[in-house]
Amino acid sequence: MKISEEVQRFGYHYPQIAAVITARANGRANAMTAAWQTPVSSRPPLYGVAISPKRFTYSLILKSGEFAVNFLPWEKAELVAAVGGSKGEKIDKFKSFGIEEEESIKTGAPILKCAYGAYECRLVSDQAYGDHRFIIGEVLAVHYLEDAFSDEGIINLDKVRPVLYVGLDSYVDINTPKVVAIERLKAIRYLEEEHD
Ligand SMILES: Cc1cc2nc3c(=O)[nH]c(=O)nc-3n(C[C@H](O)[C@H](O)[C@H](O)COP(=O)(O)O)c2cc1C
Repeated sequence: MKISEEVQRFGYHYPQIAAVITARANGRANAMTAAWQTPVSSRPPLYGVAISPKRFTYSLILKSGEFAVNFLPWEKAELVAAVGGSKGEKIDKFKSFGIEEEESIKTGAPILKCAYGAYECRLVSDQAYGDHRFIIGEVLAVHYLEDAFSDEGIINLDKVRPVLYVGLDSYVDINTPKVVAIERLKAIRYLEEEHD
């Protein structure tokens, strides 16, 4: 493996899902893309996003104390790129890109009709880390396409393909790969036996 101290270029964690973060304040709705997003707790359910304070979306999140995380299917990859390449201060992305909303039940944050999954979140933490803020929201409601998930909530990749981002405006069309279950204890046993 090559070792480098050029740590400014740390893109080796990709691919990451490029999610669409939405917020609304004073009647103004906006959407942006975030690949730096992650669950942070299951009880209570908490979800985090690394967001630059320069984003218009960030100002709406602060004003409203709410945001939503939307997961879009591969067919909407252009929309993911578009909301991540335009500024809500300058344009109404909902109008310009024909974004339709689904009803949200716990917050005023927009839930996108074209999402296969979405979380309504109440802002519970907002901390500065370098040039980004890390915001954490408590998930108050989940929206999901029933058809796209098993009863246990496992995604069905035949029905829906997430938008995976690998940096530098590049995305992965995962096309037809299947989800493979790898039980932790079985994997441990398998590797231990192999290295006996
Ligand atoms: C694929 C992709 C991923 C992005 N990930 C992030 C991210 O994790 N955090 C962030 O602050 N900006 C991220 N951005 C940049 C914002 O989406 C972009 O600056 C957007 O124009 C902000 O919109 P706004 O100013 O209307 O809020 C990403 C953009 C793209 C295209």
